[in-house]
Amino acid sequence: MTPVISMEKQEQLTIRDLVADQDLTTGDLKMILDLAGRVKARPGEFSHTLAGKQLAMIFEKPSLRTRVTFEVGMTSMGGFAVYLEHSKPRLGERESIKDVARNLSRWVDGIVARTFSHQAVVELAENASVPVINALTDLLHPCQALGDYFTLHEKFGRLKGLKLAFVGDGNNVCHSLMLTGAKMGVTVRVATPSGFEPKSAIVAEAKALGRETGAKIQLFHDPIEAVTGAQAIYTDVWASMGQEFAAHLRTQVFAPYQVNEDLMNAAGPDAMFLHCLPAHRGLEVTDSVIDSPKSLVYDQAENRLHVQKALLLLLLQSRRV
Ligand code: CP
Ligand code: NVA
Repeated sequence: MTPVISMEKQEQLTIRDLVADQDLTTGDLKMILDLAGRVKARPGEFSHTLAGKQLAMIFEKPSLRTRVTFEVGMTSMGGFAVYLEHSKPRLGERESIKDVARNLSRWVDGIVARTFSHQAVVELAENASVPVINALTDLLHPCQALGDYFTLHEKFGRLKGLKLAFVGDGNNVCHSLMLTGAKMGVTVRVATPSGFEPKSAIVAEAKALGRETGAKIQLFHDPIEAVTGAQAIYTDVWASMGQEFAAHLRTQVFAPYQVNEDLMNAAGPDAMFLHCLPAHRGLEVTDSVIDSPKSLVYDQAENRLHVQKALLLLLLQSRRV
């Protein structure tokens, strides 16, 4: 049966891999979000679009959302995903990353990888002859940012000119929100305790990208200052995967950065709450906020599926030669 391809034939991303948010042009981002909207509205039209395509998914760290959305995304478009548990040994320990990439390229049409080291995904992409997608590293989480900005666009009908306040740790999710936000014209304000700011090189890069779109990237230590006037209040865990040893100390340092009703009230009446999940309820966010009508967290989780289906379509249908 001929696959039903509802995407325009000429649609093609400028990239072959999604390793870092900066790799995507603003045009690429718009193409992915637009296709994700069509996939979400009419999923049945895409049910055979990846027939016969195979995806390998390497995970060094745990996952609920990313694993399920990539696997369900492939299956729902007629493809197949194979899960490779890689917490022990980590990628590169049993054999070189180069050899893993070269082997997988002989069997599958794409590779998704969640690793500790960002360089591991870079190295996979350098050595694979099929597209490689970053499913979170210690540095970045680009698929998360795609789902989050799709969700904000769905809610507010626009992205350009919106203000997003990220409150908490200047981590991988914060980095991706800054970089992708800057490309989409979203002003991103980040409030962290001193010593937990996002990486200065990423801040500089996001600021430079923002100069082209009018987006500002601003750092604060006062969470109230950061959220005032923002439409989106975003937080994430205070200790990311791999930092569990420091969780107790961080709980004390980050306590003033909890997103609770007082902070939401400081933001203004139209402000929505976002979190990539998993959440530690009672720490970075209270039940009263995450369970409130202002919370978009389950829309974000759902939209991971739609944006990643769009990404898979765009990358796997135009397979690298
Ligand atoms: N938000 C996110 O990436 O969730 P998982 O860690 O469950 O994949
Ligand atoms: N910053 C978190 C995100 C989880 C999706 C972590 O890396 O653990």
